[in-house]
Parts: sequence; structure tokens; C-alpha cells
Amino acid sequence: MRLMGKRALVTGGAAGLGLAIATALADEGAQVAIWDWQMDAANLPPERFSITAKVDVSSGAQVERAAGDLLAQWGGLDILVNNAGICIPGTVLELNEADWDRVMAVNLKGTFLCSKAFAGAMREQGSGKIINLGSISGKMGGIAAGSAYSASKAGIMCFTMSLAREMAPFGVNVNAMAPGVIATDMSKGLSKGDYTSYKTTIPLGRVGEAREVAAVAVFLAGPDSDYLTGEIIDINGGMFMD
Ligand SMILES: NC(=O)c1ccc[n+]([C@@H]2O[C@H](COP(=O)([O-])OP(=O)(O)OC[C@H]3O[C@@H](n4cnc5c(N)ncnc54)[C@H](O)[C@@H]3O)[C@@H](O)[C@H]2O)c1
Repeated sequence: MRLMGKRALVTGGAAGLGLAIATALADEGAQVAIWDWQMDAANLPPERFSITAKVDVSSGAQVERAAGDLLAQWGGLDILVNNAGICIPGTVLELNEADWDRVMAVNLKGTFLCSKAFAGAMREQGSGKIINLGSISGKMGGIAAGSAYSASKAGIMCFTMSLAREMAPFGVNVNAMAPGVIATDMSKGLSKGDYTSYKTTIPLGRVGEAREVAAVAVFLAGPDSDYLTGEIIDINGGMFMD
């Protein structure tokens, strides 16, 4: 129960990595709110998750309204996980302008909007943990995930470092995780459900599980990571090392 008494928000928390992270934070005693643009109530029992709200993180107006509601209810926020993300695969020749704009709006702008919505409250508190979702493809380019997604993730990882520098004087840590291939709907879609090729391309010989990313999120959300900021943690089975 390392997060007892902490108030956490996970964006895109209704499925995949977000749901695993939200569950792991709740297991450690945190009060957890979930924002997602589509909710499957079956995944979100009210005894586990105190607040669930339908929010599109790419909309400044929706984020501002939902953040106002959350801060009015809780009086602050200790942990923000900017997890909501989409992937529109395709080569540069295949992607169109609307695809590019949508990926940037959800992944990169959404991370900016949600961070901005809570940075003031964290600064006033003098504490907070912001955890962003980068990706291996933002470090090495992504063939399966495509250039828009990869560029958005590279942007998130650089945004993480800038925000970490800005928020460090106020006791707020900002870090990112860069997962490789983790079994969720997103990666299943990209690999058409066939992960067998990864047996040879990933040194550990398998794709990752959502709980293995959630465990790192718990570390970044808790006191054991108090001296870590601006860090991008690879969680990729050795697929990319730097
Ligand atoms: N699965 C992987 O292999 C992998 C690898 C690296 C990074 N990531 C990143 O991890 C995060 C979660 O990925 P996942 O695999 O769980 O994906 P997923 O598609 O399984 O789940 C994403 C969740 O985000 C929500 N969402 C999407 N757009 C939203 C929006 N505009 N506003 C609010 N909610 C929105 C979806 O409804 C869904 O619940 C993403 O940022 C993704 O880029 C995933």
C-alpha cells in the first residue's frame, strides 16, 4: 500500500495499459480517477475507481472542464498518468493530413493539455508525479506504428524533459515510460494478432504484458522514485538499448 492517501488520474484508463496502470495504482492504495473517451463500465467497478469521466484529451475545453470538476472534488492531484493515445499506422505516402493532425492532437497535444491542467495545482502543493507514455518507436522510428505515431511519441519524450526541468523547483517529478511491444488491442491491431516474429527480434523472446508496464508506473508514482526526473524508462525486453 505504497500509495495510500494519494490521488491519481489515468487518462485512457478504460482499457489496455491505462486500465492495468489504474488497477495497479488502486492496488497500492491510491484513489484513482479515469478519463477516457469511451467507457466500458464493466471494466470500471465504482469501488475501485472513484471518478470516471468521458473526456477526449485532445479537446482543451473538455480537459479544462473535467480538471475543474476533479480538483473541486479532490482539492488536488498527486499522480497524473498521461496514457491516452492512438496509433494510425501507414507510410508517409499513405498517411493524410487529417491522420497526422489527429495522432498529434490526441498523443502530443493531449499530454500537453492534461499536464497544463494539473501543473498549477501540483506547483501549489509543492509535490506531484507526472508519468507520460512514450514509446520505443519514438526512439528508433516505427515501421509498424508509422511516422505520425513515432513523431508524436518522440515529442512526448522531449516534452517530458522540458516539463521536468520546469517543475523540478516545485517538487514535481516528470518522467516517461517507453514501452516496446506490449500485448494490448493497439499492438494486436498492428501485428494482426500475430506476435510470433517477436520471438527472434526481442532478446527476451516475447512481447510484454500490461502489468509489466504498470509495475514501472507504480514505481514512478511512489516515493522510491523521488530522485528521478526527466527520465525515459525503456520497457522493451531488450528490443532497443541506449
Ligand atoms: N501497447 C503497446 O505496445 C504500446 C507500446 C508503446 C506505447 N504505448 C502507449 O501506451 C498507451 C496506451 O496504449 P494501449 O496499448 O493500452 O492502447 P489501447 O488502444 O489498448 O488503449 C488506449 C486507451 O486510450 C483511450 N483513448 C484513445 N484516445 C483517447 C482520447 N482522445 N481521449 C481519451 N481517451 C482516449 C482509448 O479509448 C483506450 O481506452 C498509448 O499512449 C500508447 O501509445 C503502447
